[in-house]
Amino acid sequence: MTILVTGGAGYIGSHTVVQLLDAGHEVLVLDNLCNSKATVIDRIEKIAGKRPHFIQGDVRDRALLQELFAKFAITAVIHFAGLKSVAECSVKPLLYYDNNVSGSIVLAEEMARANIYTLVFSSSATVYGEPVFLPYTEAHPLKPINVYGQSKLMVEQILQDLAASNSAWRIALLRYFNPVGAHASGHIGEDPSGIPNNLMPFLAQVAVGKREYLSIFGDDYETVDGTGVRDYIHVDDLASGHLAALTYLDQHAGVVTVNLGTGKGTSVLELVSAFERASGKAIARQIVGRRPGDLPEYYAQADYAKRVLGWQAKHDVDRMCTDSWRWQSQNPNGFN
Ligand code: NAD
Ligand code: UD1
Repeated sequence: MTILVTGGAGYIGSHTVVQLLDAGHEVLVLDNLCNSKATVIDRIEKIAGKRPHFIQGDVRDRALLQELFAKFAITAVIHFAGLKSVAECSVKPLLYYDNNVSGSIVLAEEMARANIYTLVFSSSATVYGEPVFLPYTEAHPLKPINVYGQSKLMVEQILQDLAASNSAWRIALLRYFNPVGAHASGHIGEDPSGIPNNLMPFLAQVAVGKREYLSIFGDDYETVDGTGVRDYIHVDDLASGHLAALTYLDQHAGVVTVNLGTGKGTSVLELVSAFERASGKAIARQIVGRRPGDLPEYYAQADYAKRVLGWQAKHDVDRMCTDSWRWQSQNPNGFN
């Protein structure tokens, strides 16, 4: 019995693969390495003491999926493979729709052909868009503000329609808030290529001396201290949410849609302070203008995950920073 993890060499996927191996599952990683490195698989083995099967390939490659479904006794799929850059998606919308939407369609078609009906999908809080109310509950209106968010919402809708057409499907749509942190070993973590877009990897690169200072995108929002507020969640908590979803799907058919967040908002300045405590480094910073497309504040209502999946996030922001710092300081050049 094997779990197929698409995008399993990536940031969230690699942490989830470690936990799947620890829980005794056989794991097959399918990843085209467009945003990750093959050495991740060695690091996973180093942590878990077991090596996942690894195939370098694309989730849109129908023939390859057919081959893998014939060769391995796959019982469930966790589908992380996707593109996620908000800056890039508006310049290359077709690339994003093809990779994220067509990729999910090909995967679901080939799963059904192989009689595999259990699927966990990586969605995002970005499907909610401008908050009508906070915290976002799963019932909040869905109105993404960029192509990336649209692609996630389209896949959610396609999977809902699919489950309505055939009661064999068991699907979890997991809406992630802001994943940060790294495995406590320091062996795997987030390794963005080029200049990081997101706050935590940027902060970590300032602390390690790779970047001169952090630009804070606006301090005039209507928030606790004027800077943007987000619901940061430790990547290992996020990973354990996927195992909880698989356990839930063992018992339940249909679709379950769940926020994976902590329910707690943290401002940019609060995260900077926590990182300074964790690293013992002063973080140079400058206030600059707001980043276009940024929302002032959002965080999850996290109760539903607790109720249906029996899952809740355990790690606080200090732990997220300690683990990010350990990964960054032990691997200043990431997986290179
Ligand atoms: P990541 O880029 O580190 O991992 C994605 C992996 O998928 C990469 O290893 C990449 O090489 C692979 N991939 C991409 N397209 C592929 C394809 N067509 N075929 C095979 N492999 C492919 O990103 P991540 O942060 O680990 O995110 C994983 C998933 O979670 C993505 O779907 C992302 O949209 C979603 N998500 C991420 C965040 C976040 O902030 N990190 C938030 C919400 C949702
Ligand atoms: C970004 C994406 C979002 C995606 C999420 C994944 C945008 C507009 N949105 O969201 O779609 O789901 O990543 O984690 O890119 N900040 C700075 N300086 C920096 C970087 C960020 O001040 O160098 C601030 C931002 O303005 C924001 C907060 O830090 O207030 C968090 O930013 P980031 O980590 O990029 O996440 P999101 O904006 O939530």
